[in-house]
Amino acid sequence: MIGRLNHVAIAVPDLKAATAIYRDTLGAQVSEEVDQPEHGVTTVFIELPNTKIELLGLLGEGSPIASFLERNPNGGIHHLCYEVPDIMEARDRLVAKGARVLGKGDPKIGAHGKPVLFLHPKDFCGTLVELEQA
Ligand code: CO
Repeated sequence: MIGRLNHVAIAVPDLKAATAIYRDTLGAQVSEEVDQPEHGVTTVFIELPNTKIELLGLLGEGSPIASFLERNPNGGIHHLCYEVPDIMEARDRLVAKGARVLGKGDPKIGAHGKPVLFLHPKDFCGTLVELEQA
């Protein structure tokens, strides 16, 4: 069911410092910062030949990455995003298998303008999984 690894998301306490590490130390192409108020984060995307890295910085009160950054003050891998051809079909199939979808269970429009869902890390090997309709 799942297809390509769309991105690996890394939550960071200082988005500008993290962007500089990827741009200046690792020599990657980095995007501008984009606020995602719907998701409580500011994102920077890094294009790699085979996938992307999504840097996540805090945006506003009650950001979903706030507690993660409390537990991981230096930042860390926050989620993996896999592509699926049909997000509603994927959701129904996963729910039928007992997986928990976070939030109300309906897709939101993600950072790339495509529908996304998040799956409970306890059901997926301790990893928060994002599904994005390709
Ligand atoms: Co993501």
